[in-house]
Amino acid sequence: MERAVVLKGITKRFPGIVANDGIDLEVKKGEIHAIVGENGAGKSTLMKILAGIYQPDEGEIYIFGKRERITSPGRAIELKIGMVHQHFMLVDRFTVLENIILGAEKRAGITIDEKNSRKMIEELLSLYNFSLDLDARVEEISVGQAQRVEILKVLYRGADILVLDEPTAVLAPQEVKELFVNLRRLKEEGKTIIFISHKLDEVLEIADRITVLRRGRVVGTVMPSEVTKEELARMMVGKPVFMKLEKASVPTGEVLLSVKDLVVKESTGKTVVNGVSFEIRGGEIYGIAGIEGNGQKELAEAILGLRQISSGQVTICGRNAGNLSVREIRDLGVAFIPEDRHRQGLILPMKVWENMVLGFHRKKEFLKGRSLNLKAIRKFAEKKSEEFLVMLSSIEQSIEGLSGGNQQKVILGRELSREPEVIIASQPTRGLDVGAAEFVHKELLKKREEGKAILLISADLEEVLSLSDRVGVIYNGRITAEFKPEEVTLEDIGVYMLGGEVKAGEGA
Ligand SMILES: Nc1ncnc2c1ncn2[C@@H]1O[C@H](COP(=O)(O)OP(=O)(O)OP(=O)(O)O)[C@@H](O)[C@H]1O
Ligand SMILES: [Mg+2]
Repeated sequence: MERAVVLKGITKRFPGIVANDGIDLEVKKGEIHAIVGENGAGKSTLMKILAGIYQPDEGEIYIFGKRERITSPGRAIELKIGMVHQHFMLVDRFTVLENIILGAEKRAGITIDEKNSRKMIEELLSLYNFSLDLDARVEEISVGQAQRVEILKVLYRGADILVLDEPTAVLAPQEVKELFVNLRRLKEEGKTIIFISHKLDEVLEIADRITVLRRGRVVGTVMPSEVTKEELARMMVGKPVFMKLEKASVPTGEVLLSVKDLVVKESTGKTVVNGVSFEIRGGEIYGIAGIEGNGQKELAEAILGLRQISSGQVTICGRNAGNLSVREIRDLGVAFIPEDRHRQGLILPMKVWENMVLGFHRKKEFLKGRSLNLKAIRKFAEKKSEEFLVMLSSIEQSIEGLSGGNQQKVILGRELSREPEVIIASQPTRGLDVGAAEFVHKELLKKREEGKAILLISADLEEVLSLSDRVGVIYNGRITAEFKPEEVTLEDIGVYMLGGEVKAGEGA
C-alpha cells in the first residue's frame, strides 16, 4: 500500500514543553486515520507541522514517498495537504464565497473570476451534499456551517490529504452522519484523511486505523476492530476512565432562572427565539438539546443581556433581568460558559492568569486599595489551573499557546469560581478529552448538589440525557418537546431535533 504520509522522529518543542517527542507515524493513501489523545497530547501541533504552520525541531517528513520540507502553508497546499483547524480561521465580515476563495483566487485577467469560482464551489456543494448559503456573511452563520466552509475551502484548493482537527465537535448527530458519508466518499476517491476527535465512538466507527498519542509520544496504532472504547480511553489517559456518571437525588429549591414567552429577533427582523418558556430551580439541570443554529445560542445570549429581548421575560434569582446590563446580570450570580470560546470566552493575546479573572477582577479579594492585587490574582490563577487540571508550562503563558481543551478548562475554572447561583453552560465539554469531559460533568453535578440552577445547552445528546433532570428540545426557535431523560430514547430526541414528532405508541 502506498504511503501518503510518513513521519519519522518528529520533535517539536515550545518553551517549557515538548509538544511532539520523536513521533513516528504512517498514513496510507486512501485511509481514514484517526489520531486521539488527551488535551495537550500534541495532536494539533503534529498536524500543524504537516500543514506547514510549524517547523519541527527534529525529524523527517515523507509525502507520497518523497522527503519534503513543508516550510510554509503554501508549500503544504502545493503538496496537496489541506487542514481544517480546530478553531476556524474565517474572516467574519466576508461572505462564505469570499472566504472559500480567499488566498486561492482564480484570476481572469486582473479581476477575480468570481463567476467561475462560484460555479466550481456550487459543484463541490452538490457533490458533497453540503447546504450553505454562499452569500451569507460568516458572522451570521452557525458554527456547524462555518465548519463546512472550512472543509470546502480545503477541497477547493485541491487537497488530496485532508487533515480534520476535531471536525465533529461542533456537529449534531445527524450532521456527523452526513460528514461521515462525505468522508467515505472522499476516501473512495482516493483521498487520504487524518481525523482528530475526542469522541471515541465516532473514531471507532469511521477510522481504518487509530493512533494514540500521550504527552507528545505515540502509544500505539490500532485497528477499531481490535479495541473497545474503554481500552482506547485507557491508552490515552494511561489509567482507566469511568464512563458512567453517578447522579445523586437532590431536593429542588426556589426557581432561580425563569424564562417566559421569550422572543428574540435578529437585526434583520428574523425571529430566532420564538416564545420560549421554562423554569429552573436550584438543584436542577435543565438541558436543551438541539441542532446548532436553532436559537440556542441566541437564547443564552438573551438571558445574559448580550442580546436584546423583543418580548417576554427573564427572571434571575427573583429579579427581572430584562433591563439590566450584562455586568448587572453577571453580578446577580450568573456564570457563562460560551460555546465559542474564541469570540466570547477568552482574550487570546492575554496571559493565562489574566484570562482566569476576566470580568471579575474587581472582586474584593483581587483589589488592593484601588489597584489590582496581582499577587492575589496570580495565586488564584495558579490554584484554579491546578484544580481544573489545565496543562500549561506557566500561568504567564499567553492563552493562545494552550491546547484547545485546556483553553476551555480556563473558562470553566474562572466561571465556576464566581460562586454562581445560575450557570449557563453552552457546549461545555466541546473539544474536551474523555477525562476532562468527565471532570466537567462532575463539576456541574457538584453545582447541582450545591443547589445551583444549571441551563445546559448541548448538541451532545448523551451528555444532555445523562446530566439533565429535564430536557427540552429546541427546533426553529421553539421548545417543541420536553422530557425527563428516563422517559425518552436518543432516537426520539433525534427526531424532535430534526423538527419531527414521535407519534404515541411509536416512541419510548
Ligand atoms: N504556539 C504554542 N506555544 C506554546 N505552547 C504551545 C503552542 N502550541 C501548542 N503548545 C503546547 O503544546 C502542547 C500540545 O498542544 P496541542 O495543541 O498540540 O494539543 P492537542 O493534542 O491538540 O490538544 P487538544 O485536544 O486540547 O486540542 C500543549 O501543552 C500546548 O500548551
Ligand atoms: Mg488540538
